[in-house]
Amino acid sequence: MKFWRAADISKLIAIAAITFMAISTGVQPVHSANILGVFLSPSPSHLIVHMSIMKTLAERGHNVTVVTGQKSKVNHEKIHNIIIEPSEALQRKFNEELSGLGTKKKSMWKMLTRVITADTVMFTIQLDVLKNERLQEIYETNYDLVIMGYFMNNFQWIVPAKLNCPMILSWTGQPTEMINELVGVPHEVSYVPSYFMTQKNGEVPSFSSRLLNIFANAALRLFITGMDIRLEARYKELAAGDTTLRTYHQMRENVSLIFCNSHFSEGPIRPLVPGIVEIGGIQIKDKPDPLPKTLSDFLNASKPNGAKLFSLGSIMKASNVQPATVQIIYKVLSSLKQNVIWKWEDLSNTPGNASNILYQKWLPQDDILAHPNLKLFITHAGKGGMVESIYNGVPMVAMPVFAEQPANADKIVSSGYGLQVDILNLKEEPFREAITEVLNNPVYRNNVQAFSKLYRDRPLSARENVIYWVEYVLRHRGAAHMQSPLVRMNFLQSSSLDVFLTIIVALYAIWKVLKWAFKGLRKLIRLAIGKFKTVKPRKSKKSKKE
Ligand SMILES: *[C@@H]1O[C@H](CO)[C@@H](O)[C@H](O)[C@H]1NC(C)=O
Ligand SMILES: *[C@@H]1O[C@H](CO)[C@@H](O)[C@H](O)[C@H]1NC(C)=O
Repeated sequence: MKFWRAADISKLIAIAAITFMAISTGVQPVHSANILGVFLSPSPSHLIVHMSIMKTLAERGHNVTVVTGQKSKVNHEKIHNIIIEPSEALQRKFNEELSGLGTKKKSMWKMLTRVITADTVMFTIQLDVLKNERLQEIYETNYDLVIMGYFMNNFQWIVPAKLNCPMILSWTGQPTEMINELVGVPHEVSYVPSYFMTQKNGEVPSFSSRLLNIFANAALRLFITGMDIRLEARYKELAAGDTTLRTYHQMRENVSLIFCNSHFSEGPIRPLVPGIVEIGGIQIKDKPDPLPKTLSDFLNASKPNGAKLFSLGSIMKASNVQPATVQIIYKVLSSLKQNVIWKWEDLSNTPGNASNILYQKWLPQDDILAHPNLKLFITHAGKGGMVESIYNGVPMVAMPVFAEQPANADKIVSSGYGLQVDILNLKEEPFREAITEVLNNPVYRNNVQAFSKLYRDRPLSARENVIYWVEYVLRHRGAAHMQSPLVRMNFLQSSSLDVFLTIIVALYAIWKVLKWAFKGLRKLIRLAIGKFKTVKPRKSKKSKKE
């Protein structure tokens, strides 16, 4: 037997070191999985959230492919991007429908119908991508998992149906009616506010708000049921008569889990199932990137009075707002002493050239919000910007327009993170007052900074959560054991109405039987008493005689 050579020993040491590292970090070596992302919603802010998930997975070493309808701002050099842009005509139609929103008075009804009609273009845009022949190359590859952006677009289940692999959904908000039923989150209408309702944390809702909430929840579920019929028809259209594919309803029961861009500390507290994984703030970097020089110079020079950031988001172009409203905004912002960074699309045609305003076409919003000199965020109250602002402890003035924005704005106000103004009916004085109040009254900044601490306090960061749960679903091939039975139950069963009905019928039957038996008993007793009464005098006579 030969003595071990030095090379063998060094190999052994290397193996021991790797084993030790694997054990000490507690991380099992994971083989790289083939993961497909399909994100069809035409909203750039949704894409930022979804792509932050995919970027995390690419950084982890997985082989990530992504199909989108637009170029993404968030990306990674290892991600294979397949971009299928909508036709120009469709894009124009979509922009037209959106631009109508900022100039109409918002009534609940109008808003709803508007959103629904915008959805129809949203449907067409997404369907076109799914029908594109470039998807054929996707169907020829083997994927271990599909991650899809949820936006009332269940017809996209055709992709995991064709690939025959597990699916995860990504939703950019809190758990809500639309996604709850896909993983079996119970509808607790007595204390969990519906999508359109707001509620203060820890508050026990009043009778009237509970009453309203039942109607809101029922209306929304009816709307979802109606929409489901349309979605199923689209799914069938995409399946094109292929009977080997699972049906829409089978796919409806196939969602492994849903990533929600929310965190329980935002409230209200609600019951969740393991199929909901909260990754609130996934799009926020752990550490801000250095700002471009123009922005950092501008912000650093804003030291004495601080700076404000004004942005109406990516989907609501500032140029879609009425010109008179833009003039009011300009008048107020240019007259205040703080510097302003204003997100504005058309740099050759700005609202005015006051020296305290810096117009920018595109902004690294979260890096700006992380700057210590930034004192206020004037926002349309989209979910993404609101979370970034809260994460960085910056108070807000909200100018909501549509969709979930009014609810977000109410939330900002009720939580004491800022104030809101009506952009559709903007007046100079109330706007100026809202800004100066939020800037000068420390209560808003204190509230939002206290919450920021709660929001960041978690056992796993949003990124770690994504990695853990994606690999969990991969390890357990879809993790079907985790699914709540509620997913497979109909309304009668899940609300126990069938049981209650049976109990009521049984009680009624028992009551009937008892009544009948009691009647019989009474007759018997009467008969007995009657006999006794007729017998008694005789008896007494008898006894007297004796
Ligand atoms: C990674 O994904 C691409 C695109 O889907 C695919 O062509 C390639 O074979 C995959 N690589 C590995 C190692 O599986
Ligand atoms: C969905 O279907 C895939 C394969 O077709 C399977 O592996 C997975 O476990 C299913 N997921 C659930 C939650 O049933």
